Amino acid sequence: MQKYKNVVDKIRLIYNEPNDFIPMHAPVFIGNEKKYLEECIDSTFVSSVGKFVDRFEEMMADYTGAKNAVVCVNGTNALQLALLLVGVEREDEIITQALTFIATANAISYCGAHPVFLDVDKETMGLSPGAVENWLQDNAVLKDGACYNKNTGRRIKACVPMHSFGHPVRIDELIAVCEKYYIEIVEDAAESLGSYYKGKHTGTFARVGILSFNGNKTITTGGGGMLLFNDEELAKRAKHLTTQAKIPHVWEFAHDEIGYNYRMPNLNAAIGCAQLEKINKILESKRNIAKAYKEHFSDSTIEYFDEPKECRSNYWLNAILLANKEERDAFLKFTNENGVMTRPIWQLMNRLPMFKDCQTDDLTNSKWFEERVVNIPSSVKLISC
Ligand SMILES: Cc1ncc(COP(=O)(O)O)c(C=O)c1O
Repeated sequence: MQKYKNVVDKIRLIYNEPNDFIPMHAPVFIGNEKKYLEECIDSTFVSSVGKFVDRFEEMMADYTGAKNAVVCVNGTNALQLALLLVGVEREDEIITQALTFIATANAISYCGAHPVFLDVDKETMGLSPGAVENWLQDNAVLKDGACYNKNTGRRIKACVPMHSFGHPVRIDELIAVCEKYYIEIVEDAAESLGSYYKGKHTGTFARVGILSFNGNKTITTGGGGMLLFNDEELAKRAKHLTTQAKIPHVWEFAHDEIGYNYRMPNLNAAIGCAQLEKINKILESKRNIAKAYKEHFSDSTIEYFDEPKECRSNYWLNAILLANKEERDAFLKFTNENGVMTRPIWQLMNRLPMFKDCQTDDLTNSKWFEERVVNIPSSVKLISC
């Protein structure tokens, strides 16, 4: 138990919190949040029309380098919409990783599509280009410029890699594999605002990517999401779909397809603008915390999961690897009983009742991570540690 106690002591030292509960990831409000909220209320523009909605989109496109950004009510809805925008239809198959947060798989299901759960890489904890290529070689046939699963007969339309805990996947290799099979990539960058792969922001590699601003994310809008585009026409269509597919007109109610009420309210966007103004400070603090953890675990039997090569991670949630499941469970029990929040990585999606019949590959690395990975407190703390 001494080595677990050393971890608890280190976390308490980093957060300068000798006795109280330490959460996994608390938001920080260190800028203009209250000022902008007041402006919203004074203006009466609290709903989905308002200057902060447009400003947040412009700021995010500028920050990430995406051509266009379109706000959404949350990351899950942004992902559902992203899939629809690249042409996913009912009964299509969508490749993703088994080791992900449930929202990735749920968004696929909202489209009436079938997730296929493949393995992750050991270096990134994200979807493996090798696993995707192997699975496609064994299961896919190409016909008339589309890819089909030769066992189910269903079209394989898209692939959703996810940058786990902010660590970028090998996105260029995934794009190269998917291009050969006419498969669209939708990047689930919900966890990776501020993370870069080979100098380019995550979520901007394919035609569309998404971000989340849930309360536990690097920056928050309370609840919210964003679609990132390199395709202006697709961005226009996204805005149309998120606003009930209403054809702009001063007084007419004309709608040309089934749309969604998915546009982020101005109140949330006001918080988003204030948060994004402080992102560099937030990311700097997160890297300092990651550095302190890295040093602590460098002479421990517990391994620290570091950013992959050629990547700059936002270190959204710090992850460590215990020796095996028994050690993992003992560590979780000790830390939580001692007021320090820790939690295991997600259960593999194919273990959940609603996804138990989905196709998978052998998931060797995913199972290995599932038994070992624990997240430790990762909130921003504006101190040097
Ligand atoms: C990987 C992943 N995808 C999608 C989402 C969905 O985002 P939201 O909670 O904003 O709906 C989240 C986070 O919550 C996530 O971690």
